Amino acid sequence: MASILNKADNWAMSTLLVHPQSEPLSGTVTVPGDKSISHRAIMLAAIAEGKSRIRDWLPAGDTLATLAAIQSLGIEVNVINKTLAAWELAIEGRGLFGLRQPTSSLDCRNAGTCLRLLAGLLAGQSFPSILDGSRQLRKRPMRRIIEPLRQMGANIEASDGRAPLKIRPATMRGIHYEMPVASAQVKSAILLAGLYAQGETHVHQPGPARDHTERMLSAMGANLFTEGSWITLKPLLGESSSLTALDLTVPGDLSSAAFLLVAAMIVPHSNIIVQGVSQNQTRHGLGEILSTMGAHIEVSQERLTGGELVADLAIGFDELHSANVGGRVVVRAIDEFPVWAVAASQAAGVSELRDAAELRVKEVDRISLLAGELRKMGVQIEEYADGFAISGPTRLNGAFVDSYGDHRLGMALAIAGLAATGPTTITDAGCIADSFPGFVETLSHLGARLEWQT
Ligand code: S3P
Repeated sequence: MASILNKADNWAMSTLLVHPQSEPLSGTVTVPGDKSISHRAIMLAAIAEGKSRIRDWLPAGDTLATLAAIQSLGIEVNVINKTLAAWELAIEGRGLFGLRQPTSSLDCRNAGTCLRLLAGLLAGQSFPSILDGSRQLRKRPMRRIIEPLRQMGANIEASDGRAPLKIRPATMRGIHYEMPVASAQVKSAILLAGLYAQGETHVHQPGPARDHTERMLSAMGANLFTEGSWITLKPLLGESSSLTALDLTVPGDLSSAAFLLVAAMIVPHSNIIVQGVSQNQTRHGLGEILSTMGAHIEVSQERLTGGELVADLAIGFDELHSANVGGRVVVRAIDEFPVWAVAASQAAGVSELRDAAELRVKEVDRISLLAGELRKMGVQIEEYADGFAISGPTRLNGAFVDSYGDHRLGMALAIAGLAATGPTTITDAGCIADSFPGFVETLSHLGARLEWQT
């Protein structure tokens, strides 16, 4: 593990050079496994009974942090097969009460999902633990999980509601909790803590946040059901209670595919196919938004893998028009707005995003930093507290831009660079490997010209 983490550290200093695209993008590619599912699979396999097998697991900076943390909690993980962007894992689950006290604090690196979900998992253990992460992660708000977990009985100490979180053993009880924001990380932390609680756990979500935790827990035998906006988890505690091991193939990540889809939409005459992409409805917002803008995404070969629908997506260059985005679709596309902004810059008219204040507390402030970097490339963008407006279509110019250590900002700028006049240089772009190992190779396979500069 150590060598891979070190390599990711080195990448964090890399610069990516993107050449303008003079030829159409074409070809068929796959994308790495879904990041959200990869985090959850490894955590839940650790507390399942017996050996889990996970294929196409995502070996990215974020998920490798979860893997390392799970190993520090005494779980044996074997990598049976590996390629650049897909690992096959065998995980020796030790049951609900099999985790062991780690010898040092757990480093979640840049991964909010790692830290927030582990906080839920560790709150009801019989040993203390400390969850920490990068400077970037230490700035992100943690009260949103600390509050409900404390209501469940958790003993969590944090300064100013930020990491590091010091967790001490506690007896957990179920709660009725109405989440103030629609967040899959918050609901998942509560549900994981609920596995160790006495009494039922009820969580209300104000919007349809991704449901991978619910799906996976149900598939593993947890007594969980959803009725409208309420999720109920019945207690697992009891002599013979256990979660069954997983046998799972992780679907391709729609949030990674989004960059390729937008690239094909804005580079003239392009036509590409992305195979095996998750079609989970709680993640499907971008496809719906792009369709209203005039994009034609052809969905074929729909099939089920690990309880999740996947499909092949064919998409090509299209004349786009503007869209107004807000309300309940926002949470179902929350990670896609940096690259949607690039699509909006090529669409005729004023595109507006509202109800997306959550973007300000992602890896970075994805409203102000995105606006600042896109302006350097010629985009006319106006910031709102909860979104932005973009006037298009704009002729993009290549520029020196910065990812600020945010993988999705870095990739969105690279896609903008493909449609620009003149080269684009993106500094601090190694963070792209936090979610999409093989991003450059995949785009190169489609005919793009990008190169790392060290
Ligand atoms: C995630 C949930 C979302 C998303 C993040 C991954 C998850 O965050 O933005 O990239 O795996 O649960 P929030 O729960 O904060 O909305």
